[in-house]
Order: sequence, then structure tokens, then C-alpha cells
Amino acid sequence: MTKRRVVAGNWKMHHGPGATRRFFEALDALLDDPSPRVMIFPPSLSFAAARESVGEESPVELGVQNIHWESSGAYTGEVSAGMAAEAGASLVLVGHSERRHVFGETDEEVARKVAAAVERELVPVICVGETLDQRREDRVEEVISSQLLASLASLVETGDDGGSIPEFMVAYEPVWAIGTGETATPADASEAHQTLRTRLGDAVGLDRASGVSILYGGSVKPHNAEELLSAPEVDGVLVGGASLEPDSFGRIVSVA
Ligand code: PGA
Repeated sequence: MTKRRVVAGNWKMHHGPGATRRFFEALDALLDDPSPRVMIFPPSLSFAAARESVGEESPVELGVQNIHWESSGAYTGEVSAGMAAEAGASLVLVGHSERRHVFGETDEEVARKVAAAVERELVPVICVGETLDQRREDRVEEVISSQLLASLASLVETGDDGGSIPEFMVAYEPVWAIGTGETATPADASEAHQTLRTRLGDAVGLDRASGVSILYGGSVKPHNAEELLSAPEVDGVLVGGASLEPDSFGRIVSVA
């Protein structure tokens, strides 16, 4: 399977509907048949504006930043996978470190969200990453492996072999590199991605594992995107701060 590189923008809690429309107007003028897959994850309230701005012909794929695992119910403030799919999302971020560390999301909840996503044919982008303390304690491999395997539990159970497992992606996002201006070195990123690829191979078979895109995230900017994207096993980038401006995001897409 040939994998296209991925450039994904996670807007977090930025850009209301008006700013979303302005972003896509400007981005449209910058993107000319991009070779990588280009994805944007706007806030839920801006999703409709994004969907309207990104026409059928646009190369941009849209996702939501979070879902609940239930399809509906008394869960004030939450949205379901079915709602996201109906609104036109094809992807969802699951287990972002801000969800884990700010909102206390557990591995078990992440696994339930992955299951809910694939049931509604959303592609989950499963985020994993170690904190600075865990890195200092030399626990990177252990932490990201256990986060990955826990989140895949529901997928691996349902598939008898790797081929029947629905599409998913993985994002390695070291917590200490997110929003800090600190980036993993290409060698650190490669090492973590290699670990994730090996664990994926154990879980879903080598063939299937080699087709899974593993993205790096954590202070990716136009000036460092090229070296990160050239690192072995890095299939794309998940960009936070630098995805908010069409110009910097467009530059990262060009680099890719
Ligand atoms: P950052 O965020 O690029 O602002 O560090 C990345 C992310 O959290 O996805």
C-alpha cells in the first residue's frame, strides 16, 4: 500500500465560525492540488462553517477533536461519533494529551472512543505520548506502547486478521513538546515511531502495521517540518499552533 504523507491541523479551542470561513478562503488560494493528505480538526461549533467552506472538490479532509463513546444520551456538552459523521466529519482525534491530562481521559475511555469512531466509519487518529518526567525516567517505550495497545483493544478483538481492521492512524505527541516550542529531535521521533510500528505489527500483523500512518506532533513549524518529515517512520505531522494561520499551515503542506 502506498501511503501519502499527512499534514493535519488541530485547532484546539481556537477559531469560531467566522475565523474558520476566513481561514479556508485564504488556504484555498494557497493549496494547489497538494500531494499530502491535508486534514483540519476545527472546534465542534465551527465544524459546520468548515464543512460549508470545504467543498466536495476540496482536497481538505475534516475531523472533530473528540467524541463521546455513546451514540446519544444525557451527556451534557458531549457529541457522538454519529453526530460528527452526519455533520460531514471523516476523522476524529482520540486521546489527545490535553484530553488525557487536562480532562482526565483514561486509556479505557480512549479505547471506547476508538470503537465508537470506527463503528460510525470515522477514522480515529489515536494520540499517544510521554510526559517529561516519564522521558527522564526512561519510560518512553513503556508508556507509548501501553497507551497504544490499550486504545487498540476494541479493534483487535473485532478483527480476525489485520486486513479486516478498519482504517486508523496514530499520532506520537510527546507531551513536553506540545505548545512549548520544544520539538523532539528527528532521531527521538524516529525511535518512538519505530517502537509504535513494532507494537502495531505485534497487534495487527506486519502488513497491516506498515500501512498505518504514524504522525509526529509537538511544536511542528514551517522551519522544522522538513527534517521531522524526513525522519524514518514519520509519515506525517499533527500541527497545533502553526495550523491556525493559513500561511504557516500552507508552508508546512508545501514542505510535505
Ligand atoms: P503544537 O500542538 O503544534 O501547538 O505543539 C500539537 C498538538 O497538540 O497536536
